[in-house]
Amino acid sequence: MSYDEFYVKSVVRSISDWPEPGVIFRDVTPVFKDPKAMRITCDAFIQRYIDSSITHVACIDARGFILGSVVAYQLNLPLVLIRKKGKLPGETIAEEYSLEYGSATVELQKDAIQEGDTVLIFDDLIATGGTVLAAASLIKRLGGQVAEVAALIDLPDLKGSQRIQDSGIPVFALLAYE
Ligand code: PRP
Ligand code: ADE
Repeated sequence: MSYDEFYVKSVVRSISDWPEPGVIFRDVTPVFKDPKAMRITCDAFIQRYIDSSITHVACIDARGFILGSVVAYQLNLPLVLIRKKGKLPGETIAEEYSLEYGSATVELQKDAIQEGDTVLIFDDLIATGGTVLAAASLIKRLGGQVAEVAALIDLPDLKGSQRIQDSGIPVFALLAYE
């Protein structure tokens, strides 16, 4: 791990038994509050994708919006929102999925992605991978191709990033918490 990655890791806060017993919650809000950590994080993703063939950044409600929108802005790419059920107006498609704690549904506007678009999915954290796989399914249903999944944090013990890679989608995470 580089000094910069170590710095960001030192800023993430771990909270035991939240939101329910047995879960160690990796709280990224201190990263958003720390301009140095935020800059290191966003710059790492911008460097990685600056010369890529990605055409759209699709970020996931809600914490994924914060980093994803900075990255899309810096890459001068269209930003697409994958939102929790009932938040997007107009015609939408939906996918239900299960989480480390509970279940949820994500939605995407039908005109957000066109056939042939090459999409980077962006989220703050990968746990079981359910959210990202549901997001990937929405994008594929509209004819898009998922180039990669990017996240600040991977929790490899929950095997989500492995599930995503097994589905044929590469994963890039800046930090891992075993
Ligand atoms: C968290 C996180 C990811 C998802 C990861 O979001 O931001 O989107 O869980 O879990 P998974 O890999 O098991 O699917 P959450 O649903 O808690 O929503 P929030 O961003 O609105 O807090
Ligand atoms: N989303 C799902 N699992 C999580 C965890 N352990 N910490 C933070 N966000 C999460």
